[in-house]
Amino acid sequence: MLRRAVALTEYEKYIRTEELLSLQKAPEALTCHDEMQFQILHQNSELWMKLVEHELSYFVHLLAERQLPRAQNTLKRVAMIQRMLIQSVDLIDTMSPVDYMTIRTGLGRGSGQESPGFKTMLRIPGELVWPAFAAFLESSGITLRQIYEHPHDHEAIHQLCEGLVDYDQLLQTWRYRHLMMVYRIIGTGTPSLKGKPSDLLAHGMKQRFFPKLWDIRDEVFAEWTAQMAARGKDHGYHG
Ligand code: HEM
Repeated sequence: MLRRAVALTEYEKYIRTEELLSLQKAPEALTCHDEMQFQILHQNSELWMKLVEHELSYFVHLLAERQLPRAQNTLKRVAMIQRMLIQSVDLIDTMSPVDYMTIRTGLGRGSGQESPGFKTMLRIPGELVWPAFAAFLESSGITLRQIYEHPHDHEAIHQLCEGLVDYDQLLQTWRYRHLMMVYRIIGTGTPSLKGKPSDLLAHGMKQRFFPKLWDIRDEVFAEWTAQMAARGKDHGYHG
């Protein structure tokens, strides 16, 4: 290993820039110019997803401590990270299909589906977050029905519910954005490593991470529209 003549600065030591910046292919090893962007974008995404896991675990801890404003702020932070993940996909729009084809020659059979960060983002809501949130609701003696019937009487908890809906919505928005990018790069019909991307990815887009928070909308709307229908009012829904 080459020894540096100058000592590392405090910044370099703390951020560990030497290690971090050695994690990309050397320019001479790149299959094409755009591979640097491709690798950095994926590495960057893994880091943001690691932070999402860290924050969601903290959210669970804050719930147990009943620190609601901080729990809400944590969900706000998670949503900001998710928006950055969505926006970063834009970078690929500056890349041409042929460059991706070239990059693939060095990728082997690697697929985004194997992303540890993404797998965690799919797993953690059902495994950790929802059980903790359901226990929190239970210990608060409140039901989703009461919250959504009278959201402003339970504003703090209502905002937590909506923060979780944001997580769900932003994860699916990322999937939609990624699918559009996939179409742009490899087309709508090209079979990928695991099958037809449109089928695979569209299947994932039907997933719900906090299903009870979606179901409650059906539940209250069905109730309200039934009430309106009973009063002879035209509500425009549920025929
Ligand atoms: C040229 C750019 C890209 C192309 C053509 C592409 C293509 C694909 C395709 C075809 C799939 C479906 C599974 C498979 O066949 O492997 C997939 C899945 C996936 N990709 Fe990408 N991808 C690209 C960039 C990215 C980037 C920048 C990320 C950022 C993390 C990413 C993350 C993922 C993830 C997480 C999945 C699994 C999605 C799910 O299960 O819903 N991909 N990608």
